Amino acid sequence: MNAPLFLALAGNEAMAAALATKLEGFSGPVETRHFPDGETYLRIADEVGPRGIAIVATLDRPDSKILPLLFAADAARELGALSVGLIAPYLAYMRQDRRFAAGEAVTSNTFARLLSRSFDWLVTVDPHLHRHASLAELYTIPTKVVHAAPLLADWIARHVARPVLVGPDRESAQWVGEAAARIGAPFTVLDKERLGDRKVAIAPPDPGALGDRTPVLLDDIVSSGETLREAVRALRQVTEAAPVCVVVHALLGEEDTARFAAEGIRLTSADTVRHPSNAIEVAPNLAEALSSLPLRGV
Ligand code: R5P
Repeated sequence: MNAPLFLALAGNEAMAAALATKLEGFSGPVETRHFPDGETYLRIADEVGPRGIAIVATLDRPDSKILPLLFAADAARELGALSVGLIAPYLAYMRQDRRFAAGEAVTSNTFARLLSRSFDWLVTVDPHLHRHASLAELYTIPTKVVHAAPLLADWIARHVARPVLVGPDRESAQWVGEAAARIGAPFTVLDKERLGDRKVAIAPPDPGALGDRTPVLLDDIVSSGETLREAVRALRQVTEAAPVCVVVHALLGEEDTARFAAEGIRLTSADTVRHPSNAIEVAPNLAEALSSLPLRGV
């Protein structure tokens, strides 16, 4: 049987190479450039068929990535791929899963339909599921999810002495609790109220919940950074111990990253999205999740 080919959309070369090494496949780039009128030129230079193809594309800031992604999937199929899967360490468009105001587009549904039409399977890390219990409610293709809580927990156990885990909002309780249980640490969750895309209010916790431990804020996503910055401010009101922030997906842009640094906030993230805070590798867990999918086209 032919070895699987991991095709990297620009920026995903290291992840594709790591997965290829772990799964005895090989990796190559999806070459793209723009024509003078802005349209995309795309080429897969590696020999494609007949073999299983996995396209590796993390989907932060997704809009400019989607067309190249769909073109690559289609090209791979036309070139003889036996199956075409998507490895998206960060999966976009999980936020708008309902119509909250008349006329709004439910982009989670449209995005899921789009990907389900082009790919045979999907693997991701901790999708931001809010009002859906699982990806199966959105995607019609087989999906596998890697849970990063154990990886974050193990990083905390190795790097923070006497931690107390803190979830920035009630929604985080379940997986902060899971991470805390794994490393035998206490945990608490804060009360967050979202007031706008870039505005949240968080009340300081009861100091007794922190004791004399180092607070470690744990979240799935840091986007504008407001949640963590407000949570750090709330913690600083009740403890002198410098809080540590650990997240799965670091979507923070350059300016907001600089604000974190200016405010002395320490951030560590998994490498699902490239960011200077990356310190927790997800490739071994993605590779494990891939072992039950038709990676070799069968
Ligand atoms: C919310 O449900 C999420 O878990 C994160 O707390 C949120 O997405 C973070 O966004 P931001 O960094 O923009 O506050």
